[in-house]
Formats: sequence, C-alpha cells, structure tokens
Amino acid sequence: MTDTLTPADPAPADKAPAYQGPKRILSGIQASGSLHLGNYLGALKRFVEMQDDAPTFVFVADLHAITVPQDPALLGAQTREIAAAYLASGLDPGRSTIFPQSAVREHAELAWIFNCVARLGWLDRMTQFKEKSGKHKERSSVGLYTYPVLQAADILLYRATHVPVGEDQKQHLELTRDIAQKFNNDFGAPQGQPNFFPLPEPVIQGPATRVMSLRDGAAKMSKSDPSDQSRINLLDDADTIAAKVRKARTDPEPLPETLEELKTRAEADNLVGIYAALADEAKAAVLARFAGQGFGVFKPALAELAVEKLGPVTAEMRRLMADPAEIDRVLAAGAERAREVAAPILAETRAKVGFWQGGTV
Ligand code: TYM
Repeated sequence: MTDTLTPADPAPADKAPAYQGPKRILSGIQASGSLHLGNYLGALKRFVEMQDDAPTFVFVADLHAITVPQDPALLGAQTREIAAAYLASGLDPGRSTIFPQSAVREHAELAWIFNCVARLGWLDRMTQFKEKSGKHKERSSVGLYTYPVLQAADILLYRATHVPVGEDQKQHLELTRDIAQKFNNDFGAPQGQPNFFPLPEPVIQGPATRVMSLRDGAAKMSKSDPSDQSRINLLDDADTIAAKVRKARTDPEPLPETLEELKTRAEADNLVGIYAALADEAKAAVLARFAGQGFGVFKPALAELAVEKLGPVTAEMRRLMADPAEIDRVLAAGAERAREVAAPILAETRAKVGFWQGGTV
C-alpha cells in the first residue's frame, strides 16, 4: 500500500504489464441547462463519429449537475433534453448505450472508493474548480470539489479506454489516469498480471475542440456566459442563429491565406474553426476557399451552413422532447445495459479493496 505520498506527489509510475481489455468509448454531458455549439462540435458530433469504432457508452451526467444548485422540478426534463440531443445528433441506441448517470448507482459507489485513492493535492490543482467556485470557495459544495473524482469513476466503471471530450476536460482526464494508476499500484493485479484499470486516452481532436464565445475570442463558449449573444444554442431557431453569426465580433481584415496568419486573430480563427467543423473540412480548406474575402461574405456563408447543419438536429430534438415516453424507453434500456457492464467491474473492485464478501447485497 502506497501511503507515503505527499499531497503533491504524482501517482507512482506503473510497473505492471499494460491493461489488455477491449477498446471502449465513453463520454457524458452534464444535465444542466441548454446545450450550445461548443458542446455539439466538441463533444456530441464526435461521439456520433466514433460510435462505430467500439462499444460506446454515453450518459447524461445528472450526478455532476447537482454539484451546483439545480431546480429539482427541472432536472428530469434537463436530463431528457440532453438525451434528446444525443439521439437527434445521430447516436443510435442500438449501437450506443445511452443512460442517465444516476440510474446506475455503481457510479456513486466507485466514486467513493476513488475519493479514498485520489490525493487532496491532485484536486487542489484542478483549474475548473477554481473557475467555478470563484471567490466563494468555502461556499461551494464538496461535490464540486470532488467532481473530477466522480468523472474518473464514470470512465473506469466501464474500463473505458477512449474518452472524446473538448479541450477543457484534458486535466480531468489526466486525473483519471492518475487515479487508475494509483489504484492499479495499490490494489492491482498479482505480480505479472496486466493492470486492473486501463489508463484512458482523452480523444481531443478536430477543428473545434475549444469553441470560443462569439463576443470575445479569448473566452470559451459557455452556458454560464451571461450574454446569450455569445453562444449558439442547439435549440435556437434559424433567424436567431443567423443574427448571432452576423453580430459576432470580428476584425476588419479579410480572411488570410494561411493558418499561421490566423493565429493572431482569435475571433476570425474561431469562426473559421466553426465553419470547418460544421462542413467536415480542415481549416486550411476553408481558408483556401475564402482567403481574401471579408466577413461580409464569410459570415452569411457561415450562417447558412450553421442553419443547414443544426436545423435538422434542432427539429428532431424538439420532436423527441414532445415525446418524453420515447426518450424514457431509451434511457431505461440504456441504464440496464450499462449496469450489466458496470456491476461486475464494481464487484471486482470491491473485492480488490477487501470489502466483506460474505454474501450477496
Ligand atoms: P459539460 O457538460 O460541461 O461539457 C460537455 C462536453 O462539451 C465540451 N465543451 C466544449 N467543447 C468545445 N468548445 C467548447 N466551448 C465547449 N464547452 C464544452 C466539454 O469538453 C465536454 O466534452 N465533466 C464533463 C462531463 C462528464 C464527463 C464524464 C465527460 C462527466 N463525467 C466522463 C467524459 C467522461 C463536462 O464538462 O461536461
């Protein structure tokens, strides 16, 4: 048992043979308020692109949502809204397991075990807690502080190997790897056996891993931005999307020819990245088409593309949200399938920790 770590120590280096289990993809989105273009391009669209690569688990993170105050009367509807977005974006419940996190109780139990594996010093370094708690750290919930530990449990409960996320989740994925490694070292396999948990890979790829605010190229597009003009919401109608793109902050220069020249122009870079992600093209290809043109030409083209790509998703989301029973069927079936994978892994983990094994509980 490694108990000599100081809080700032990294997880000890791994000596056992690498994890040898199958590839599994997993990700989640919090059930807190409306989704925006950043969530769509950085996460949702990527889940859909990956779902054929390996068994895929995608959940609605309602346990994470309550780390900040939520209205209990709305949380169920918010959960269905995220599920509707999954389905409307093209996640196929026949191929992907879609479920509410809280319906699989094993998440909370593994999170407790991991609370006893993770070190305070590791959590003290998490920048998202600092951002979210702001000046009122002592008034934040304890859950907000241990949020990344629950995230590690979400991932390792399924022995997921690949986790598609936006760039802002990179640090949480690093923590997940540290927790997996420390658990493997402390409780892991007998000598020579492969590791108990995989060290999951963050999959942060594509031209839109960090979509920025439409009002400020230095700020991330976020649901907590007080200005609705800063983001395109997945439920915005066509006119609203077009108006927001038209009003997006830019500079007076025409679009450049090279990516290098784009680097110093945050707002232009952001809009080109959004265009590229929506069109499934590289940013260089977008520049090749629009270099030398001003935003008077580029913005209407971007607005048209955004409406063309998001319109069908929005319409399908609205259709599904009008039929909660259909969503609930998908979520219930998904929860059952998820539990079938999670329960044996948790049972093995409990045994590793040494919990009483005298009977069935
Ligand atoms: P959430 O709901 O805050 O964000 C959901 C996903 O959207 C991505 N994202 C963005 N991508 C690009 N540009 C943006 N402006 C932008 N804003 C958000 C996030 O990176 C994320 O991928 N902690 C997770 C939820 C979670 C999770 C997990 C994810 C809980 N457990 C286990 C993966 C694995 C989150 O931040 O959700």
